[in-house]
Amino acid sequence: MSNIRLIDTHSHIDMIEQISLDEVIANAAANDVEKIILPCAYPKDIDKIIDITEKYVNVYAYLGVHPSEARDWNDSLSEKITNYVSSGKKVVGIGEIGLDYYWDKSFNNIQKEVFIKQIRLANELNLPINIHDREAHKDTFDIIQANNENSTVIMHCFSGSVEFARECIKAGYYIALGGVVTFKNAIKMKEVAADIPIDRLLLETDAPYLTPVPYRGKENQPAYVRFVAEEIAKIRGIELEELAALTTQNAERIFNF
Ligand code: NI
Repeated sequence: MSNIRLIDTHSHIDMIEQISLDEVIANAAANDVEKIILPCAYPKDIDKIIDITEKYVNVYAYLGVHPSEARDWNDSLSEKITNYVSSGKKVVGIGEIGLDYYWDKSFNNIQKEVFIKQIRLANELNLPINIHDREAHKDTFDIIQANNENSTVIMHCFSGSVEFARECIKAGYYIALGGVVTFKNAIKMKEVAADIPIDRLLLETDAPYLTPVPYRGKENQPAYVRFVAEEIAKIRGIELEELAALTTQNAERIFNF
């Protein structure tokens, strides 16, 4: 039996197309992935995501609306999410929320407004926030600092510099790294992986996207979080087992697993 324990803290397993959900879960278990957190992007998917967490004991949910879908937000979603949380569903955070200036900058103001609303919702529910920040580092950081009162902040798929990572660490945030860190040319990400305190590090896949080496280009799945862990352990010069244990403990602390 292996002593490796991993958690994939951000995985869109509902979007994986080439294998069934049963296979996704079995492959994860076979690769020592103990838990998977399934984020929500589209309001229409909230019920489906809750259904998946009911079906699979090791799957938990973030509920929220992705910045690229911010125009689909309506205030009744706060009530819907609150109802799921208060009825004891496996919701461990609000996400993925934030700002995305890469795909479409034409509705930045709506993105900001919806981001702030969801931070406040997380604060009310006393849940962590899982942050999507793409080419919007400064605005994302400033909005969190100005609006977040009590939610633990997790920077999902962190894509900033070492300097920005340090700023986030100083502000008390966690940083989640995924498959990009395994890419040969991802110098900046490898620097971040080496630099941040290990008690602030989380692992993720962002499946079905951003598949790590050696499966880069193929469809991603939670089982591959192991390659992310192996690469970061190598960068930091520690054993895989230790890296896995420490990052898993971080997730257990944040999400009360
Ligand atoms: Ni995502």
